[in-house]
Amino acid sequence: MFDVNKIREDFPMIRNNPGLVYFDNGATSWKPQAVIDAVNGFWTGYNSNVERGDYPIAAKADSAYLNTRKIISRFIGCRPEEVVFTANVSASINQIVYGVGKWLKEGDTVLVTEAEHASNLLPWFRLRKEKGINIEYIPVDRQGRAHIEDVRKALHEGVRAVSMAYVTNVLGSVQPIKEIAEAAHEYGALMIVDGAQSVPHRKTDVRDLDVDFMGFSSHKMCGPDGVGVLYGKYDLLQKMEPVFMGGGMNARFYSGFDYILKDAPERFEAGTPNIEGVIGLGAAAEYLMSVGMDDIEAYEKELRAYFAGRIAQLDNIEFYNPDNETGPVTFNAKDVFAQDAAGFLASRNIAVRSGNHCAKILHEVIGTDQTLRASLYFYNTKDEVDRFIEAAKEISVENAIGIFF
Ligand code: ALA
Repeated sequence: MFDVNKIREDFPMIRNNPGLVYFDNGATSWKPQAVIDAVNGFWTGYNSNVERGDYPIAAKADSAYLNTRKIISRFIGCRPEEVVFTANVSASINQIVYGVGKWLKEGDTVLVTEAEHASNLLPWFRLRKEKGINIEYIPVDRQGRAHIEDVRKALHEGVRAVSMAYVTNVLGSVQPIKEIAEAAHEYGALMIVDGAQSVPHRKTDVRDLDVDFMGFSSHKMCGPDGVGVLYGKYDLLQKMEPVFMGGGMNARFYSGFDYILKDAPERFEAGTPNIEGVIGLGAAAEYLMSVGMDDIEAYEKELRAYFAGRIAQLDNIEFYNPDNETGPVTFNAKDVFAQDAAGFLASRNIAVRSGNHCAKILHEVIGTDQTLRASLYFYNTKDEVDRFIEAAKEISVENAIGIFF
């Protein structure tokens, strides 16, 4: 039974920051005690390297590290050997683009949308410069949503990959990834998904979605910073060239310059990994599964609908994504620069993000490159939304300029 008050007791940040309304979960999430304990447990009980040491604490570290692959495989519905640990979703997508880029040739096309985060555009932009691939945009509506009929129209014989977020980071548009993957596969194109803003908030089943690659970050799903996941279908991972070469990922190398790489996933994990991060990520995924991903999704939808209903009543606010059922509430206070409005909210102990949120071509869709984003998680409450609304009512040109906190 989902009980937000009980859940809030799991988060020391809530206890230690009484009165702070934290609505910047799209940027990073808070961590439950179970994650902190897992990381501390490693540092204080069995701190050693992994897959290198022949002594008991190293064996314990190995087994905790490898166990996270199993946990994540349950969390997203794949095989443990399809789970690669990276630094974050950006690192995951860079690896994917590097690897897939080796299979593309000049004139091949990749489809993206204008609602993407930089991490799912810049690696492709660089590949375009280096290799002469085409990048084409699937149209999205004013709330960032790609419609399957437009995806079908955008697909053609030259398309080799479709790369997009499942849930976009500014407008929270949920893209019909399963249908898009099916359509992409009809053309033999790969389906690549940025799961940064979806995996923490909804149950993910990569097999059911039938995506070829997906990346996501630990820190947005209650886990430590600096660790992420690259999921790939195993046969694709086995064929893919790693970005990083070094220790831990090779089986042998010879003075004659030849080398043999390990199988996936190890071949993508050169060097000592973020061991405590991976162990903490495992604890975070266990924690989210124990709360229940379906309950998290349902609670957040209800909270967001409440938030959307209330903010839509405010005359001084322009609200950009009223029809999206999930993700952040994105808005501006009329005539007020977004960062000034964020400063005003901060003076009321409310944390939101302002700016372009790393989605720097989205302004071509929504007509402004500066917004405020209130992004929720399952430990937020209606009381916090009410506090936000009372503060937001007061944002104006007169009182929002020159606020320092
Ligand atoms: N990618 C994160 C965000 O959207 C940081 O805020």
